[in-house]
Amino acid sequence: MRTDTPPIVRLSDYRPSDYLIDAVSLDISLHADDAIVTAELDMRPNPAGSAGAPLRLDGDELELREFTVDGAAPPAGAWESSPQGLTLHAPPQQPFRLRIITRVNPAANTKLMGLYRSSGVYCTQCEAEGFRRITYFLDRPDVLSVYTTRIEADRNEAPLLLGNGNLQESGELSGTGRHYAIWHDPFPKPAYLFALVAGRLDTVSEPFTTMSGRAVEIAVHVEPGKADRAGYALDALARSMRWDEETFGREYDLDVFNVVAVSDFNMGAMENKGLNIFNDKYVLASPETATDADYANIEAIIAHEYFHNWTGNRITCRDWFQLCLKEGLTVFRDHEFSADQRSRPVRRIADVRTLRAAQFVEDAGPLAHPVRPTQYSEINNFYTATVYEKGSELVRMLGILLGQDAFRSGLDLYFSRHDGHAATIEDFLACFAEASGKNLDHFAQWYAQAGTPLVTARGVWDEEAETWTLRLKQMTPPTPGQTQKRAQVIPIQMGLIGASGRELPLQADNNAPLQDDVLVFDQEEMTVTFRNVTERPTPSLFRGFSAPVRCDIDLSDADELLLFRADSDAFNRWQAVQNLMLKHLAADVAALRAGRPRVGAPAFAGALEDFLASEGARDPAFVAQALSVPTEGDIAREIGSDIDPDAIHTARQTLRQAMATALLPALRAIRDAAEPDGAFDPGAQAAGRRALRNLALDLIAAAAPEEGAERAAAQFHDAGNMTDRMAALATLSLLPGARREEALAAWEREFGDDPLVMDKWFGVQAMIPENGTLDRVRQLMSHPGFTLSNPNRARALLSAFSLSNPTQFARADGAGFSLIADVILELDRINPQVASRMLTAFRAWRTLEPGRRGHALAALQRIASRPGLSVDTQDILNRMLA
Ligand code: PHE
Ligand code: ZN
Repeated sequence: MRTDTPPIVRLSDYRPSDYLIDAVSLDISLHADDAIVTAELDMRPNPAGSAGAPLRLDGDELELREFTVDGAAPPAGAWESSPQGLTLHAPPQQPFRLRIITRVNPAANTKLMGLYRSSGVYCTQCEAEGFRRITYFLDRPDVLSVYTTRIEADRNEAPLLLGNGNLQESGELSGTGRHYAIWHDPFPKPAYLFALVAGRLDTVSEPFTTMSGRAVEIAVHVEPGKADRAGYALDALARSMRWDEETFGREYDLDVFNVVAVSDFNMGAMENKGLNIFNDKYVLASPETATDADYANIEAIIAHEYFHNWTGNRITCRDWFQLCLKEGLTVFRDHEFSADQRSRPVRRIADVRTLRAAQFVEDAGPLAHPVRPTQYSEINNFYTATVYEKGSELVRMLGILLGQDAFRSGLDLYFSRHDGHAATIEDFLACFAEASGKNLDHFAQWYAQAGTPLVTARGVWDEEAETWTLRLKQMTPPTPGQTQKRAQVIPIQMGLIGASGRELPLQADNNAPLQDDVLVFDQEEMTVTFRNVTERPTPSLFRGFSAPVRCDIDLSDADELLLFRADSDAFNRWQAVQNLMLKHLAADVAALRAGRPRVGAPAFAGALEDFLASEGARDPAFVAQALSVPTEGDIAREIGSDIDPDAIHTARQTLRQAMATALLPALRAIRDAAEPDGAFDPGAQAAGRRALRNLALDLIAAAAPEEGAERAAAQFHDAGNMTDRMAALATLSLLPGARREEALAAWEREFGDDPLVMDKWFGVQAMIPENGTLDRVRQLMSHPGFTLSNPNRARALLSAFSLSNPTQFARADGAGFSLIADVILELDRINPQVASRMLTAFRAWRTLEPGRRGHALAALQRIASRPGLSVDTQDILNRMLA
């Protein structure tokens, strides 16, 4: 039974397991509502555990059928079991074998954890604690075992039987219509990496030869009839495998690598050993159904899961507090991969935008936690932007601080020293300290201290002395449970730029902690003087976003424009124009709220025009990023408190319109230029051109709605690919009227039976910033293509609404909050993980102006008053209301 205060697990309580499981033999006989699991566990006491301790196996909603120890049923009183666990009071103190038979019901499993059915396909999800929903087990990542799995199913229902490792044997059970396959995985692994798939799927595959010449068959399995959408994922997989060999010397280690796409999945994808299971949204792509953003996501997530084979699987985590050990490092690796496959600066800008939109917000609110948390009540709630994205930034900073050679040596040492083991952050950092000879004790604090540091920078140029003096301060705001903060080690990659735009030499005082162009700022305050600064410099700080911090620097608009025009660092060029826009927008919001005159046309529009003319054709993807007006979320973050989403929306629309009006001739020229024709090319170059053309369309619609609507409607009908189709629909969606409704109706007619494409349709409607959207969303919830029990559907409509439509989610009358509260209550009974994730949309509720804040609180309290909430939802609520 669940109580209202779920038990808390603490990092400081970690103890090695008292028992180990060396080998696991599973026999799983599949029937839709009745799967029989026979597990044989070869166990022994752990020399590092406490001798004679009782053995407590984890379970979750299990039905026990049979239990023996070394072939005999133990006497009553020697053991006990419940659906939530099995305890053997005095286990043998030498190696012993348990045999456990359990029964589970895949068809009834709506939590999508453990063994479940997705569109008739049997599949599993075991991270973090799903294996205990299949059999009783030591379900913890530091118990590593060699698995042999026999899967048996009806041949007609499930012609394909997949497991971890390599296929050992397969055959028919004569006269029964059933068949079986036996898979063996020679690499010891924790239970969370176990997987099986059984179903009717179409396959695309190809051979891959590893760097040492081993033959591997790589394959992607998808819903019948969709094999023509699996090619890009297969290609991305082959590129990932090659890249990991070339970049990090990591070779694949089994004879097969299988990727399976399923339509019901809680997260993006899962790195099970040799058998990655994916949300089909991150596998299926064709020019007609997937946008450029979809292609980029597929490439990144295929790479991410593949890279886990080394960072996560060969080397796993000692306990779940170390989650960032695999996730932060693997995100870093997939970011590097995408940067190499596409444009490095454009990827960096995209990654930082995500970091700020998700992690900075999390870090500034009630759900803030360190990259390595010290306690949890539900681990599923810690698959967060902080663990993933900030975790990745910490790895990136290591590279900047140690230099790329020492960084690479440290990583090599980590791979060789910890292969086959479950490791900790301390183990990881020790490898880099050893390889570089540097002390990383202070750096390690990044893993323990939550909150986003604010760095304040002020520079003074002394013309006489030809010096420039930089005064730095850092401050990390308090976060839940951490009121006192200490200085972090902050690498500031920097340059100084002269008035003509040339890069000035960077020569600091001898004792300054400057390594090449990286200033290491590791105290509360620091002053550094630069010599031979012969002209007034404009500082370019945090080039490439060298640390996950906020920076307050008093640059004038002219300084920002100089950086925008002349900085050699593309990221900071983009940052400069963002700063200009954010400053303008924040001032306009303040004016609106105070009833003062509005700020007027932006002075920087002319610079944007020059920029578009000079660079639009050369680097369209970058230009598209630079011309993107900060989102309403970006603006709210900049303002920080007393947020009025309507004022933000109005200010943003006004700026878009003013910018677009100034750029109109150039935007029309982009639109009217001939496009190269030929087959759809999903590569970064072609995608960049589409991005700029579609941004131009969107801006034209802001300046000249009638013209924009006409152009968008034409593009909607003529588009040869989903990127252009979707962009046209998005533009039309902001223009009320018949054209919009016609386009929506046409989409439904064309794609009504394609759930992933319909998700775009649900999402675009949920994001319309109009009063009518609430009713629209309510109606869409009873659309035949909608169901709350599929996570993609739920998120397409409702997370789009709660995360990307601030004026309607945070309506002044509270009706948006109330709708999402109703949804969470319903969803919590079906799938707690999806419900608790959706609840995090309220994480910035305290930053709202008082009226909206009151409505948000009421909605949260209404959810909290419901008896029987899941631990997942309860945990988020407790923290959000604390
Ligand atoms: N480990 C997965 C990944 O990031 C994420 C995941 C977590 C998937 C929990 C399912 C369940 O690659
Ligand atoms: Zn991962």
